[in-house]
Order: sequence, then C-alpha cells, then structure tokens
Amino acid sequence: MRILEPSLGDGSFVFALLEVLQKKHSQSELISWINENLYGVEFDARMMERFVKKWQAHGLGEVPKNIELGDFFRWLPPQCDRKVLFHPRSYFASPLEYFDLIIGNPPFGGSFDPQIQDKLDAMYGTRNGMKIKKETYSFFLLKCLDFLKSGGQLCFICSDTLLTISTMRGLRHHLQENCDVNIEAIPGEFEETAQNMVLIKLRKKNKKSSHIKIFGDKIKTETIKTTPNLSWRINNDYARYFSGHTLGDQFVATSGMTIGNNKLFLRKIINGWIEEPYQFSYAQEPITLAGEIERARLGRISAVRQETIRDREKRGDTRRIIRWELRKPPLRLSMPHNHYRFYSKATPAILYADPQWAIFWKEEGNYVYTFKKSGNWYLHGVGGKNYFGREGMTWNLIASRMRTRWLPPGYILDSGAPCAFPRPGVSQDELFFVMGWTLTDLCTEILKNVINHTRNIQGKDFERLPYPVWVGPESKAGAIGLVKSLIQDSRTGLTLNHDHPRVKKLDKFYAYQTKIHAPKKALQFPKNAVQTALNF
Ligand SMILES: C[S@@+](CC[C@H](N)C(=O)[O-])C[C@H]1O[C@@H](n2cnc3c(N)ncnc32)[C@H](O)[C@@H]1O
Repeated sequence: MRILEPSLGDGSFVFALLEVLQKKHSQSELISWINENLYGVEFDARMMERFVKKWQAHGLGEVPKNIELGDFFRWLPPQCDRKVLFHPRSYFASPLEYFDLIIGNPPFGGSFDPQIQDKLDAMYGTRNGMKIKKETYSFFLLKCLDFLKSGGQLCFICSDTLLTISTMRGLRHHLQENCDVNIEAIPGEFEETAQNMVLIKLRKKNKKSSHIKIFGDKIKTETIKTTPNLSWRINNDYARYFSGHTLGDQFVATSGMTIGNNKLFLRKIINGWIEEPYQFSYAQEPITLAGEIERARLGRISAVRQETIRDREKRGDTRRIIRWELRKPPLRLSMPHNHYRFYSKATPAILYADPQWAIFWKEEGNYVYTFKKSGNWYLHGVGGKNYFGREGMTWNLIASRMRTRWLPPGYILDSGAPCAFPRPGVSQDELFFVMGWTLTDLCTEILKNVINHTRNIQGKDFERLPYPVWVGPESKAGAIGLVKSLIQDSRTGLTLNHDHPRVKKLDKFYAYQTKIHAPKKALQFPKNAVQTALNF
C-alpha cells in the first residue's frame, strides 16, 4: 500500500503503523517499503524536529524523502506537475489518484496561508454546486480524497461537527456521493481539545452510496435527503418529522449586526432610563493607501484600486468618521427617546423580556453606520439591516436549546441573537404558533440531534427545522392562545423558564400525530424588502 499522513505532527500515526510492520517484516523489507511508499507532510518545523528525533530513536535510518516539511495545501504527490496546483481546470484534468490509504487527524478551526486562501476556495469551495465551508478539516478531506485511488481508504479522526452542522452540508453530500462512509465513535478523550471527535472511514468509489454507516446503524441516503441540512444524525424515528415543510417556508431568519464597539453605542436601560456618557460628532479623515490596506481583508487591495486610492490620497480626499468626547456629567435620558432604539441582545429570558439595551440611533443609525464603515473590512456590512424594526421572534445564538422570545416591533438586531420574521402573507398567529413549537422538548431534540448538535443555533438551523404539520387546528389554536397568554403574563412580571409547568404544557399541543395539516404556502420577500417599522 502507498500511504499518506497529510498532517504528520510528531508522527503518532506513522509510528503506530511502523511498530506493527516492524513485527511482521525484516528491517530491510520495511526500509525499502518506507522509501517507496510512505508519504507525509507537516508544516510546523518544531513538530517535524520531534518527528525526526522519534524516527532516529526507532533506528530506521534516514528520514525518507517523501516525509516533507511544508504546507499540505501547497503540496503535490510526485506524479503531479506543480503547475496544476492552483489551476482548477488542469488540477481536475490531471491524474490525481495515487494513494491506497490516507490516515491522520487533520487540523480543525486552523488558519490558511492568506497568500493562497482565495485560491484554495476556488479549488475546494464548491462541489456539485454546493458550498464547501472554508475550514481546514473540510479542505484537508477534499484534497485527500482527490489523491486517493478509487477503492482506496481514508481514515481520519475528525471533529464531530461534520455530522450535522449546516455549513458542512456540501461536504456531507460530496462524501456520500463518492464514498462508502462509516462513522465510528472514538473511545476516550483528547487532551488537546474539548471538541468531540469521531472516526471517519471512507472508501472512495466515485459513485453514490445507498446508505452510510454511523455508530453501527445504517441510514439510507434517501432518508438523509429528507433533511434540509443533509443530516447524518437522522434516523427512522426522526425521519417522520421531515415532511418537506420547514420553518423556512413560512419564516425568514437572519443574524443581526456586529457593532464593532458595543461600549460606544449601547446603553443599559435601568428603570426606563439610560445614561449617555458621550457627545458624538462627525469629522473628516484623510484617505491614505496605508490606512486602506490596514482595513482591507488579508491586507490586500487590487492594483487597480490601489491606484485609485493613491490618486485620492494625492488629491487630499477625506472620508467621514465619527468622534466622541466624554460628557461631564453624562446625560440622563428617559426611554423611549428619539435618538435611541431598543437593541435586541441575547438574554436568558424566554417568551418575553423587557427592553434591556438601547442603541444610539440618531439620524436613523448614521453614526453607527459611519463608525462601522470606517472600521475594519468585516465591519462594513450591516447584518439583518432589512429586518430592523420588524416584529418577529429572537433567540440566543449560543445555547443548549432555543430560548425563544417575542421580538416586538422597533428593535435593532444584534448578531448574538438571531431572529426570524414571518414571510409576506403569513399571519401573526403563525409567529406565536412557531414560537411555541421552538420551546418544546421535541423541537429541541430534533434541533440538537438532527439539525445542529453544537451549541450554535443559527438562522439557517431554525429555517431547516420541520414545520409541525401534524398539529391539528384545535391544538394549534390552543398553542397560539397559550403562547400569547404566556407573553402577556411575563410582560406583567411572570418569570418563565423551560421547566415552568405552563411552558411544559406546550409539549402536548405539538405531540406527533400521523395526520398532516400542511400550511399555506408563504410568499417570498422581495429581494429589496426594506422595512419601515422603526417606531415605538
Ligand atoms: C491535530 S494535529 C495532528 C497530529 C499528528 N497526527 C500527530 O501524530 O502528532 C494537526 C497537525 O497538522 C499540522 N498542520 C496544520 N495545518 C497544516 C498544513 N496546512 N499542512 C501540513 N500540516 C499542517 C499541525 O502543525 C499539526 O501538527
């Protein structure tokens, strides 16, 4: 077998393998096999030093030429012409398949060399028209699969986020379309990470599988396809909830905005009052190439834009920025106030929370937008802007279950609290119906087992939840009535949590029945649907 370890580290996999082979073969047989067939890459020089020391301690002679220090994403096996490296067309046209077995535990959450990350995205960022998340383990998997012979095997220890999260949907699709997939549990824990890990074993066959194997169970790929995220944690019990109707048919979910400096613009509301410590004003700042490069993604700006910026620098062009000075004493203002809007941030409350934060929103947010625009590139966009001010629901991005709250009209949205809004033509009652659904144990079980088992609950996860088509009209009316009365009562002081007996009652309304009551199809938001509801 020709074997590759693409992220060698100090060689745990390689030495385990060699120790087995040492018992079965003579030293000369082993060394000649190593020289011909063992390949490895590691980019951390200190790791490689440790690897070399271990190699010498094993009495295996010289480290073979095919064990290399370098970036796996710049590496090619010997049969490949280096010219194909970042040229998708010649890369895919060239004979890539080379290894019988690829083993290892590739890095996850790692970083890419900024010089090549866009090129890598072009090579590995889509498969079969689906997005592949730019994450080290997904790109390692794809590149390794390219270099695996048909019939060859890959065996990786990998983050278990691979199993459900929606951003890995395209990767799951690619793997099940091209390989036999077998996921196994790994006994024990790892010192280096708190992340749960699984063993993924793939056999490349270049055609689709009828099923995958996971923790000993066989799941049909047809069943996997009933889930919008192509979940590998679906099973026959869960399959019945995926009728094809999802919450995303009725609601559109969105993240909110990252301000970039919360202290500057957010004010805690205490007994209906806020304190404003700053006096804001606009100013002008010269535009310089150095300043633009500092703010640009990866510090890179195209030659043509650099030229334009240089011209503007020469002309003495300026950009608008904001300035702030401390007020002594701070202003004390009662809410609501014309220059402020309520701000929706994550909070432990469910169903309803009094407004806790206000954002300085003079001139319809112009100060905040100007601040973001003059900051780093990643602050330039305004997440959820089209939905600012609308009535909907919100929850905490990071939580073990949905802490759904009613979002009254008039709020500006924060990225830590994703939101969902009824699509045009969807009644307000649907809002309360779906809020109730998200608070049930059943919905939580589906969310955390099938849709996304990590602690993140993003808008896309919400949209992919099944719409509870099994709830008949009577139960639906009961659920809506209960959610409304819970909101009403918590507005007047009742504190609620998921274990409160009245919240627990929701479970009964949404209990599974075989009869289907499909909802009316909602309309799509027009692309430029700008809201107008920013009033108190
Ligand atoms: C989880 S560790 C694997 C450890 C290894 N299996 C061992 O036995 O020590 C991931 C390794 O990948 C290396 N690595 C990360 N990115 C890399 C890249 N682009 N090319 C090559 N190696 C990389 C890291 O330096 C690290 O040693």
